[in-house]
Amino acid sequence: MLDAYLSQRLDGFVKQLQAISATLVVFNPRLEISAAMRPGAPNVIERSRSLRFADKDLGSLHLVLPSKTPHNAEAITEQMEAFSLQLAALLSTPHPSSAIELDQAMDKLSRSNARFHWCGVYRIEGEKLALAAFRGAATPHAVIDRNHGICGAAVRENRTLNIADVNEDPRYLSCDIRTRAEVVVPIRNQAGEPIGEIDIDSHSVGAFSPSELFELEELAGELSKLMLK
Ligand code: SME
Repeated sequence: MLDAYLSQRLDGFVKQLQAISATLVVFNPRLEISAAMRPGAPNVIERSRSLRFADKDLGSLHLVLPSKTPHNAEAITEQMEAFSLQLAALLSTPHPSSAIELDQAMDKLSRSNARFHWCGVYRIEGEKLALAAFRGAATPHAVIDRNHGICGAAVRENRTLNIADVNEDPRYLSCDIRTRAEVVVPIRNQAGEPIGEIDIDSHSVGAFSPSELFELEELAGELSKLMLK
């Protein structure tokens, strides 16, 4: 089930790249090689990245772009990096039964509001928070210690933290220099204890309204059911 979903996501990304004559090769034992690689061909830009989640090495991604690409090669490389981390999170999840729904929920959430530039869901795994799914730029904080960051504080305090300006908050762990506001909403079990959280970053100061916070708390309730199944 999860493998079929991963292939589907991979096909979607490869189709997007084909539109600009780029190709992607993924080396991972579970995923089939998706396109023919042309290593060393003239007039191409090649970018390779390892497919990693936390300390797990899951293979690699290889992107081949025509050097006359109509789009900015850096922007496409950034997309590949984000996609690579999304795949790595799905490939290494210890909770495959809810992984697809969480991934789709983050996709929907990120499309629901133009100010939601990064949307992710973390799960509590012992003393750590592990990124289960996200949309937006690749983050260096795929795993966060419960004692660190705004993400850690929201879990420790078991309450929503709406940070109007992250530059004013010394707890903030930076993932993207464009981020100005962040909201973290705990996801709780039936006993009211946190089991994870929704994290949203925005490029706008004070991005999150009271009605949006209310909706996000409702979403946290729905995600809780998925995460507990
Ligand atoms: N900013 C968060 C870290 C996660 S990234 O935003 C994706 C924090 O301060 O905990």
